[in-house]
Amino acid sequence: MFSSTEEIKSKLDIVDVIQEYFPLKQAGVNFKARCPFHEEKTPSFMVNRERQFFHCFGCQESGDVFSFLQKMENIEFPEALKILANKAGVKLPEYNPQMANLKTRILEMQAAAAEWFRNQLLNSEAGYKALSYLKDKRKLSAATIEEWQLGYALDSWDALSKYLKGKNFTDQEILQSGLVVPKERSQDYYDRFRDRVMFPIEDYHGNIVGFTGRTLKEDESAKYINTPQTVVYNKSEVIFGLYKAKAAIKDEGKVVVVEGNMDVIASFAAGVKNVVAVSGTALTVEQIKILKRLTDDFIFAFDADQAGIRAAERSIGLAWRQEAKVKVIAINQSLGKDPDEIVKKDVALWKKLIAAALPAMDYFFEMKFQGYQPEEIESKKQVARDLLNLIIKLASPIECDYYLQKLAEKLEVREEALREAVRKARQQKKSKVAGQAGAQTQQAGRNVKSIDRKVAVAERLLAGIMAHMDYLEYVGENLVIEYLPMACQEFYKMLAVYYTKEYKQGGKVEDYIKENQPELGNQLNCLMMLKEELKQLSDNEFLAEIKRLIFELKKDFIKSKLSGVAKEISNNEDKLKKSKAEGKDELKNKIDKLMQESNELSGQLKEN
Ligand code: UTP
Ligand code: MN
Repeated sequence: MFSSTEEIKSKLDIVDVIQEYFPLKQAGVNFKARCPFHEEKTPSFMVNRERQFFHCFGCQESGDVFSFLQKMENIEFPEALKILANKAGVKLPEYNPQMANLKTRILEMQAAAAEWFRNQLLNSEAGYKALSYLKDKRKLSAATIEEWQLGYALDSWDALSKYLKGKNFTDQEILQSGLVVPKERSQDYYDRFRDRVMFPIEDYHGNIVGFTGRTLKEDESAKYINTPQTVVYNKSEVIFGLYKAKAAIKDEGKVVVVEGNMDVIASFAAGVKNVVAVSGTALTVEQIKILKRLTDDFIFAFDADQAGIRAAERSIGLAWRQEAKVKVIAINQSLGKDPDEIVKKDVALWKKLIAAALPAMDYFFEMKFQGYQPEEIESKKQVARDLLNLIIKLASPIECDYYLQKLAEKLEVREEALREAVRKARQQKKSKVAGQAGAQTQQAGRNVKSIDRKVAVAERLLAGIMAHMDYLEYVGENLVIEYLPMACQEFYKMLAVYYTKEYKQGGKVEDYIKENQPELGNQLNCLMMLKEELKQLSDNEFLAEIKRLIFELKKDFIKSKLSGVAKEISNNEDKLKKSKAEGKDELKNKIDKLMQESNELSGQLKEN
């Protein structure tokens, strides 16, 4: 009998799963990419189809399709299991509520709530006015209402919570779901969404993680309210519509970002499906990174009013910094209020606007040059300031150059004067950003492992030995086991034992290790991938590489010994200062010996 995990693994290909996040390039038997778990310029993230395994030779992250998803999404195993079971079409055995962790429970609850809202919309008397609002006023078809799982929250303080309790969710769980609001100074709570049309919000995998609720009242001040941050709803990462738009974004090679949920839904209904919404705020860096995994081409559609332009400038600046190519559709009143209105008036116009979107900077040039008075120096300065502030946000130096030239021409000023202004602005920005940098690095480190170069070097050496077992003797003569980091010593010993016992008889190293030390299986998988790489080297290249690796390890080893000795010397010197006369000679002797050792070690470093 297959276990669920085995069944899922047999039905999914890790290469496909990873490619849903970013493209992989085939390189011999492996696939390669830049590692998503640490910053790097050249790809050291490798995926092997045959082994259904990934490994990064830069940061040492490795594992199977489950661990990939856990790391990529920052989730626990049970959630990864659910997502992958879904992808593979594998039905998981009935789960035990006590076993499931909180996140899983809250996801279950969102699904139950969505079902409840949907039922109220379609089948309750009170839901009728909401249904007719959606159908008559917003012109949504039954199919669209179904596709987006729209619903209705009753005008009640406890209808939903009662329903959830009936489904065996505990007060604690309900309180954590964002579906209710806790009452002050008590364990009690009430339904957050009341008398609202409900839009489920899905995460990247189609799990419902929260809701947006639109009021049906004309005079309600909060037109839309949203689920607050919860363990499953991360505001800065969720993008409305993305799960459904994913495929179209990849097919079209571009994503259209609009402001409202209704804009997305209307566009979808009209067949334009590479559309997502930011829900009325600027995009976050996280959201941009998520979109960038699918495409580099962004089109922002925004209100051409003051507030809309300001929000768009922020999103666009961030997107530029992530090296996205950005175009814009500025929606002014003559076209319609928003994409929703435009689509309903004239689908062809919506498509035309998307096709004719302007590069963002060209749009800003047009905007800022409106009302420009060439004979007024103040007007020149104003336009220069506004546009330079945008130009310095361009990540590409070529683009930056191009627009500086263009600006100089249009303003009839020397390009050098503008360049000088850019230099100044950059400097100011740098000193401002410096203060925030610390916090940012910390955040970036969230799921990025620190890179252990030493382990990477040692693993390369081990893989090299496996590629050409005959070199084991050479390595043995030139390497002391302590040169290797702890994490690699056991494996090296196994190779040595295999070499003397089995190699000459023709036994396979893989089988030998699997049989005798199965806990090294993971490391074995990584090394087997790297071995294929190293096999490509010529004999000369290979020997040079082995020598280099041994030297690196030796150097590291000596350096860390040296710093240990240096510390000991300085400790003893401290003691010497404080000690009475009778102990002094002994300490001096000790320090002399340590100095000698230090000299010897330094000498060894130079020898090589
Ligand atoms: P809009 O006011 O433009 O709403 O806000 P809309 O999308 O056109 O909504 P309809 O067509 O009247 O139903 C744009 C987006 O800003 C967020 C929502 O996500 C909305 O879709 N918003 C707006 C809020 O979060 N709260 C609000 O009170 C208003
Ligand atoms: Mn609207």
